Parts: sequence; C-alpha cells; structure tokens
Amino acid sequence: MHRPIFEQVCVIGLGLIGASFAQAIKDNGLSERLVAVDSHAPSITEAIEHGLLDAGSANLQDVISGSDLIIIAVPVQAVQAVFVDIKQAMDNGQLAADCILTDVCSTKVNIIDAAKAVFGSLPVGLVPAHPIAGAENSGYHARRASLFVNHSVIICELATTSNVAITKLRLLWESVGANVISMDAGHHDRILAHTSHLPHLLAFNLVEQLASHDDNLDIFRYAAGGFRDFTRIAASDPKMWHDIFFANKSAIVSALDEYGVYLQTMRQLIIDKDSTALMGLLGRAQAARRHFGHMLASTPYTDTSAMSASYNITPSNTVSGTIAIPGDKSISHRSIMLGSLATGVTHVTGFLEGEDALATLQAFRDMGVTIEGPDNGNLTIHGVGMNGLKPSKTPLYMGNSGTSMRLLSGILAAQSFDSVLTGDTSLNKRPMERVAAPLRTMGAVIQSTGHSGTAPLSITGRDTAGKPLQGTEYNMPVASAQVKSCLLLAGLWAEGTTTVTQPEISRDHTERMLSAFGYPVIVEGNRISVTGGGTLTGGDIAVPADISSAAFFMVGAAISQNSELTLTQVGINPTRTGVIDILKLMNADISLSNEAHVGGEPVADITIRSSNLVGIEIPEHLVPLAIDEFPVLFVAASCAKGRTVLTGAKELRVKESDRIAVMAEGLQTLGIDCTVTDDGLIIEGKGTATENGDINNSQPVFGGGHIVSHHDHRIAMSFSVASLRAAEQITIEGVETVNTSFPGFAELANQIGMSIQVDTDAE
Ligand code: S3P
Repeated sequence: MHRPIFEQVCVIGLGLIGASFAQAIKDNGLSERLVAVDSHAPSITEAIEHGLLDAGSANLQDVISGSDLIIIAVPVQAVQAVFVDIKQAMDNGQLAADCILTDVCSTKVNIIDAAKAVFGSLPVGLVPAHPIAGAENSGYHARRASLFVNHSVIICELATTSNVAITKLRLLWESVGANVISMDAGHHDRILAHTSHLPHLLAFNLVEQLASHDDNLDIFRYAAGGFRDFTRIAASDPKMWHDIFFANKSAIVSALDEYGVYLQTMRQLIIDKDSTALMGLLGRAQAARRHFGHMLASTPYTDTSAMSASYNITPSNTVSGTIAIPGDKSISHRSIMLGSLATGVTHVTGFLEGEDALATLQAFRDMGVTIEGPDNGNLTIHGVGMNGLKPSKTPLYMGNSGTSMRLLSGILAAQSFDSVLTGDTSLNKRPMERVAAPLRTMGAVIQSTGHSGTAPLSITGRDTAGKPLQGTEYNMPVASAQVKSCLLLAGLWAEGTTTVTQPEISRDHTERMLSAFGYPVIVEGNRISVTGGGTLTGGDIAVPADISSAAFFMVGAAISQNSELTLTQVGINPTRTGVIDILKLMNADISLSNEAHVGGEPVADITIRSSNLVGIEIPEHLVPLAIDEFPVLFVAASCAKGRTVLTGAKELRVKESDRIAVMAEGLQTLGIDCTVTDDGLIIEGKGTATENGDINNSQPVFGGGHIVSHHDHRIAMSFSVASLRAAEQITIEGVETVNTSFPGFAELANQIGMSIQVDTDAE
C-alpha cells in the first residue's frame, strides 16, 4: 500500500484501460476517493457495488467536483467533447484551474490540439500520456490491476505543464508498476504509426483482400498459421481503429507510403528473380527480428536495462568431461568484416552466435551485404568487394561490443558515405578516442559525440570529407589489438603505407586473416604494416573454439577436486595463450594434445586437472596475452596458496566494466582478502594444499553471497566458477550479457558437474 497522492481521482470511461487504472489506483491506495463517469450504467453500478468507486454517473457534472486528477479514458475522437465538459466544470468552480488532466489515448498530437481548441491556451495541469498495455478482451469486466506492471507509459511533458502535475502523474504511474518514459508528442505519434497503427492497418487490409475473393471460403478454410498470426489483430475494435487512423492521419500516411516503397522493391526482386538481393532482404529482416526478439518478447518500450537474469548456483566441487567450447569471438568478428569486403563467397564454420559477433553481422547486413545463416555456426557471406558497402539507413547498433565498434570505425572512416555507430549503455561509456584520434591523423573525419570521447560516433564519408585517407605511422600507447586492427583496416583504403607499432604483442587475428584473404601484411617484430589499394579474396574460414571462453572451465577444473576436463580444438594462437602460461606458472596441471592448424590459426585439445595452485607475480608481458582472462584468473589466485600480484593491467579498468574494481568487490563479498592498486590487484590466496598435499581434498575458500556482475559477461562467468570452491550458494545478478560471448554457458557448466540455475525476470 502507498500513501494517497490524490484526494479524488475521476476516471472518465470505464473500458479496459480506464477500469484497470482505477482498480490499480484503488488496490494501491493512491487516492482518497475514486469516482467515474461512463454512459454504460451497469458498469458504474457494478463498480460501486464492487467497492471500486465511491461515486459514479453518466454525467460528468454529477461527480467531478473536487477532483484533483482527471483520467480521460475514452476513444480518441471523444476526447474533445470531454474537454468541453471539463472546461465548463472549471468555469463554474467545480474544478480548480490547476487540476491535473491526463488521458490514455494512443495518439498524442490530436489530444493537444483538442485541448487548445477548447481551452484556448493549454491548461497547466495537462499531461498527455499513453500506457503501452492492452489485452485481447475489452470492457470493464476485463480489467486487471496488474495490467501496467512492467509496461511502459509514455508521457508528454509539455512546456506549459506545471512541474507538480508532471511529478505527481509520474509517481502515480510508477506506483502502479509502470516504467515512465518522456517523449515529445510528435515523436510518439510517428513511432506508434510504425509500430502499432501500420500493422493493424495491414492486418485489416489483408483480411479484407482475402475475404473479397470469390473463393474466400476456401481461402479461410485452408488458411495456414501465417495468416492467423498475421491477422490476429484485425479482430480488434473497428471503431477504435477508425478513430486512431484519422487522429494520427499524417504519420500513418507517411508510414504507409514508406511501406509501399518497400513492397514495390520486393515485388521487383521477385519479378527479376534476383535471388541474392531477395535472400539479403529476407535474411536482414529475419536477423533483425531475432535481434530484437528479446525486446519484442518483453513489453514494448520497457527499459531493457531493467530486464535481467540471474544465476543461482549451488556449490559443487568437481568437474569432468570432454566438451566443445563455442567459436572464438575475435575471429568471428573478423570473418564477417573481411568476408563482406572480399570478392567472392566466404563460407564460415564454427562462427560464434553470441550477441557481440551478431552485432557485427547485422551491421554488414545493414550495409547491404547478403549473409546467409548463421545456421549452427555456418555462414555464407556474399562479399561485395572493397568498394561495395552501402550506407546504412539507420545508425549501426553495436550492442555491447567494443570490438565491433572499434574495428568498424576504421573501415567506415574510409568509406565514401557517412555513418553513425552506437551501442548499449555500457559500450557508450567506453573510450573511443583511442581509435578516433589516430584515425584523424590519417585524415578521417570522426566525432565522438558522447560525453568524454565516447560513442555515438559520427563518421563523415570521403565523398564529403575529401581525399582518401593517408597512410600513417602510429605508435600505440597501449597494446590494444582493437586499436591496431582499426588502423590496419583503415589502411586498406589509405594512400601509401600504414604502420602500427605496439608496445607489447597483442592478438594478431587481423593480420593472420588478412593474409589468409590474400592481402599482404608485413610484420617486423612489434611493427605491422599494410599498404592501401589491395583486394581481399573470399574463401573458407574455420573458427576455432574461444580460449577466452575455455578459460572459465580451465580454472574450474584446476581449482576443484577429482577433476579432469578436456576442451576440444581450442584456438592456441600464441598471442592468446597468456592464460595457459599464467596457470602453468601457478603450477596448474595442463597439457595440450591433437595440435593442428585450422584456417591459419593453431588449435589443440586442452586437458586440465585438479591442481595445487600457488600464488605468483604475473609477468607484465603476459598481460595483453591474457587480457580477457584476468577475472577468472583472480578466482584461480583466490584458491592458490600465497599471494598473487597483478601489475601493468590498467586496461582492465576500461573493459565491459572496471574489471579490477568489480572483481575486487565480488571477491571481498565472498570473503577474499584483496587490495586494489592503480594498475592491478593483489590477492591473498586461501589455498592450503602444498605441492605434496592432497589436491583432492580441497576446502572451500569462498563463502556464499550475492554478486553484482555490472552487466559484464566475464564477471558473471568468473564468479560462477568460484562456486566450485564455495561453502554456500552464490547468486549472480545481471547475467544476461553472458550471451554476448558464451551462449549456452550455464548448460555446458551443468553438463560437466556444476549446478547453475538461471532465473529470468523479464516477461
Ligand atoms: C579484442 C581485443 C581485446 C579484447 C577484446 C577483443 C579483439 O581488446 O579485450 O575482448 O577482438 O581485438 P583490446 O585490444 O582493446 O585490449
């Protein structure tokens, strides 16, 4: 129960939305009194009998006196007449002039116009609103107090509205469980025209088209599921939609015009039998539908950062088995990029179907590349050549993926057209000037438009910016493969040679894959050069399993008892094997077998057994070679005997989260003594076993507790592994990002003996 916000709320219209809102206000105790107006007398009588209303009438003047909030829940076209009655009540002193007025209609500009027409100037209490909620059934009897819980409500904060009115209405909606979003009325109407009004119009239209055929009985008799799914919404109230179509006329007409253009394009592709273009279009649409599927599955317009999943992990103390780990993230990204820019077709196997790599895939589809799949890790990319990308119609959305954004910046800086790159909240906080600044020295016109050198990035195409990019010599201040790759990729279009010098070795997948596609790359120690103007030739790419994902289970086996785990065909590129070197220095029992080469990258089966880990000082040259594995290495260090010291790892602070601070916070929650330093972490290991001790009788080193992952996939997975040496249950919040790099992590972990239960609280 809340405290009442209002003295008397008057609901005008007791249909599904009005009655549900009234019920939610009543059940939550948000108003001292509740009255309603509805021409349908039985609804009023029943609502009074049910104790929902204190009073009600068909006539507004009978009940409105003293209301400090009026909710208009009548069809759009009837709102103006209600405003006339309200004005009369204000004029004759029944209502205060600052009484708050709101509505629940699905169009907003016409509500504001109606208010202007009636009141002259807009009342200070007017706050137009639109709850994005509904149900199949309509009317008073269909009401549900929970209808708005976790649904969004769009409110239009007009310049004329008092702050009190806005604050109180926001509070009311939040108190009934809704998420409140502010939006300009025009923007609201344009968005709704596309997302709601156009689909309803098309559904009505398709049913009309089929019903008017002479053989309509047959058509409906044999109508397949597609027809039923597509036209379900044509069963809704015609009067309501008639009113909405007129009320939002101009936005709907322009959405319809745009639809016509798309329909014509598709028609032409079918006439021309243009298979590649049609596959491109269908694949793009399918991918976009999947990409947004999780948003569509939840409530429209809900704040996705509020969607969360958690792991509840029961301690287990042993793992065993032979498993395959999903494909390498870095190589998957690059396969899409180079495959798209190549001439000819590229077939990829082992592609990682995680959200990060899928963001790259979607970006290239948005730029006109036809990509078939992914289907079980298989992709077919129809390369468009070095100059074949087309401008995307919308900003390219990189999700959580720093690799996508940084590498694409290099490619896009060289294209003829303008681009905008954006990402999720976490990515939009990560430093982008590290690529933007050196790209500018090549002549790129690129602006980091977020706060403090962050995305969204706005990139001006060469058509506007002028001459081609120029080769450059760049000494990288940090050993970042993303920065290196960004510049090398930009260098493919630059005049002259681009040379990047790195302070330490970083992962070299870009260099290897460029060579595999036939592009000359010169590597002289830490100096890497490419000369612009070459071409790439498509071919086959086999993506090995990701050693960064394998690392979670490597540590899992090392810290738990009676464990032996084999991870098959994992990439062991020497620029990525820092985790193996560090674990070996910590005395881990690791061996490699079945070494081979696939697609220019070395692979091997990695076997790891229960180990007597000891603390070490981690050599700084290994830091870039294990940069993504430190979260889980900190878990290993906690289980080792003695102290582990990491230095020279400031980069960890600008990953998907500040991995030094966030890991330290979590380790301390689980009872580990650790000290954060500027560029690393000191961990007091709690392992007790000696080199000759009994590995297979290891005691828990972690307690249990509640861990916040800060929406960082590797933090979530690292603390899952800690459960193998925990005394009690560990709960990890914010694990939905695990899908960015390791789809199926929890299932695979459970398969080898862990016990992770996934709870999703998104609807
Ligand atoms: C990556 C490089 C690394 C790594 C990231 C992937 C890549 O980042 O952390 O997960 O694919 O090039 P930095 O190069 O910025 O260290």
